[in-house]
Amino acid sequence: MTKMMFPYHICLFSEHFLVAVPVAVVAAVGGFLVSQYLNRRSCKKGQVNTCINKDSPKVVHSFDMEDIATKAVYCRCWKSKKFPYCDGSHTKHNEETGDNVGPLIIKKKDA
Ligand code: FES
Repeated sequence: MTKMMFPYHICLFSEHFLVAVPVAVVAAVGGFLVSQYLNRRSCKKGQVNTCINKDSPKVVHSFDMEDIATKAVYCRCWKSKKFPYCDGSHTKHNEETGDNVGPLIIKKKDA
């Protein structure tokens, strides 16, 4: 039986491949676990507000009635990208969770 010989550069490539694959797998799994950990820290279970002004102890907005033109639509689901204004994100939230939240709409009487 003849012994098969590979060129030196092919042996080097296969050695690097044997090291690179496990390192890549460990890095991918580690990255996934870290992202899951960070995600759980920022989205604590049971919290309504998952991402708006999380550095503040309390999120409060105040508006003067005179500054509202004819109608203002405020978010109550805490999912709006334009918070405190409603951007329609409650629809997706309701579809995904079975919830029934919607905005607070303030209109002037004649509007
Ligand atoms: S986006 Fe929150 S109530 Fe509409």
